[in-house]
Amino acid sequence: MELANQINKERLPKHIAIIMDGNGRWAKQRGKIRIFGHENGKNAVRQVVEGCAELGVSCLTLYAFSTENWNRPKLEVQALMKLLVNSLKEELKTFQENNVRLNVIGDISALPSKAKKELLNVIEQTKHNNGLVLTLALSYGSRDEIKNAIKTIADKVKNNIISTDLIDESTINEHLYTHNLPDVDLLIRTSGECRISNFLLWQIAYAELYFTETLWPDFTKDDLCKAIINYQQRERRFGKTSEQLN
Ligand code: FPP
Repeated sequence: MELANQINKERLPKHIAIIMDGNGRWAKQRGKIRIFGHENGKNAVRQVVEGCAELGVSCLTLYAFSTENWNRPKLEVQALMKLLVNSLKEELKTFQENNVRLNVIGDISALPSKAKKELLNVIEQTKHNNGLVLTLALSYGSRDEIKNAIKTIADKVKNNIISTDLIDESTINEHLYTHNLPDVDLLIRTSGECRISNFLLWQIAYAELYFTETLWPDFTKDDLCKAIINYQQRERRFGKTSEQLN
């Protein structure tokens, strides 16, 4: 990580979220099938997990499979699920060596049983690690998450568990999949696409957005450093003026 020494360790983003995009195009450029890109995307996942752990970032959330991704060709969905199971088995060692705790957000009930089983296994085995919290967004959609939160809150109001007057932003936070995570500070999307694609809509309210042309399988620890260095050059005003901050 050559660029790591340009990072101010006192001002690290607490929570980095990544939309890992461009696996299909990376494979196509090499005349290979899409899944070849996903398989190589796994290396980039290891790079960012190790990179965040080494730098001391608290939370990393990766968009691994969206609610909309279920509509991809059946073979690609199956291959992605198989890749998930194999990666979890292989990466457990990386997680333990780097003190990483695995967490998951999304509609886990929709995943194949093998994937669910392996996820729960790795979550259990890493639950005492107190370094980086790695959250995988699987069968995740932000609108689905917000809809579920509203349903639960509405039920609680109906059953007199909470009163409408007391609903505030923290009530909503507490009912999202991400209730135990801080807001996103830095959102990265690879492959040159500049959109959010139903990812953490509530949680990125004040995130700094970083888009790079790099395709996901090519993303390295130094690319992660570049994004963090760029983040540290920004002034985060949270609605205030520059003068108020200084
Ligand atoms: C987007 O690229 C990528 C995905 C939908 C899947 C992400 C999966 C991985 C990075 C594999 C490894 C991850 C884990 C957690 C095991 P795309 O297929 O949309 O690319 P394209 O836009 O070029 O077609």
